[in-house]
Amino acid sequence: MFPAHPLLAVTHPDPYPYYAALAREQPLYRDDALDLWVASHPDTIQAVMRAPAARVRPPSEPVPRGVCAGPAGELFGRFVRMNDGALHTRLKALLAAFIQEQAEQPCTPQWPMTPALDATAVDRYLTAAPVHAQAAFLGLPTALHTDSAARISAFVSALPATADADQVAAGHAAADVLQTRLESLLLAGDAAPALRKLREDGVRAAIPVAVLAANLIGLLFQSCEAGAGLLGNALIHAGRRGLSADAARAEADAIVGHVIRHDPPLHNTRRFLADAVTVGGQRIEAGQTVLLVLAAAATVQPDAGWTFGAHGHACPGQGLARRHAADALAHLLRAGADPAALASRFRYRPLPNARVPQFAFSKEPTP
Ligand code: HEM
Repeated sequence: MFPAHPLLAVTHPDPYPYYAALAREQPLYRDDALDLWVASHPDTIQAVMRAPAARVRPPSEPVPRGVCAGPAGELFGRFVRMNDGALHTRLKALLAAFIQEQAEQPCTPQWPMTPALDATAVDRYLTAAPVHAQAAFLGLPTALHTDSAARISAFVSALPATADADQVAAGHAAADVLQTRLESLLLAGDAAPALRKLREDGVRAAIPVAVLAANLIGLLFQSCEAGAGLLGNALIHAGRRGLSADAARAEADAIVGHVIRHDPPLHNTRRFLADAVTVGGQRIEAGQTVLLVLAAAATVQPDAGWTFGAHGHACPGQGLARRHAADALAHLLRAGADPAALASRFRYRPLPNARVPQFAFSKEPTP
């Protein structure tokens, strides 16, 4: 049965026939019950993404209200992902150049692992591994990887409007520690060449070190939830295909590629209209929110990498995300994870945009 609406599709066992029908039959429509416009075809999604009035944050709330007074809010407000306009354009170019240059350096992540690879340990691994890989990529000392992953997780937990006072306080503390840590990495006398170049480019573009460091934290943050989804969905597909512990790295990469095309980790993103726009003859008023169903666009263009977005805000970490997920999957298999058993019992975390499997849970999955 089709999910009732696009937000429920993210956790549906097989939402792809629904997404294909949505893109075909309702490429752009207003969902009154959700109070959202929904764009699901590549053409309508691109038209919204190209509109200058379509912003990545609500103009009235550039930073989530609960964290806006304090270090977590300051950090969030500095992310390239959360800004439009001139700052975004300048920062994005610097970050993309940094990622490209740093990716040429050899880097061996120290994968987090517990001795018993039960469902709970695999769940923990899914969320920790992408941040560990990203921390190694940035050149953070190995001793700080686990703590950095925990701080990112505390920061992420402070962002929803439902976060309680303890979570918000932990998020501010985590943002503080990470900001100091990444500023030190960036300013170190023996910083890696790509970091030194980022620093110099920042001086030329008049972007303060604090903003550059915040965006290195942004790279850790961006890799977190979607990275868990990519690895977790790859693990499930590995189980369905009977991939074994001695599978070659190329097989792991092929599975990750398949997942990016056909069972992607990130299904939705949003745009918030600062002014009215007209798309495909339909007028969308200022103040409205448009849900961009990337996973529906992928059913029309499976090879276009829709799960990584498109246009100005397209993900600069696509290649890295794929490489890290394939490495982590190969590592999990070698370490004795049983993908067939894991693929036989799981559900999806109740997240609005990311499709992240959960293997340890006490109740049976709800249909
Ligand atoms: C499976 C993993 C990943 C997925 C599915 C993913 C997906 C996305 C998507 C859809 C966007 C655009 C959001 C929008 O337009 O509203 C985005 C932006 C971004 N991603 Fe990723 N991402 C992943 C991993 C990573 C990694 C590993 C990095 C770090 C190197 C990264 C860094 C970024 C940054 C900095 C942005 C903001 C770009 C901008 O606003 O111009 N992502 N990502």
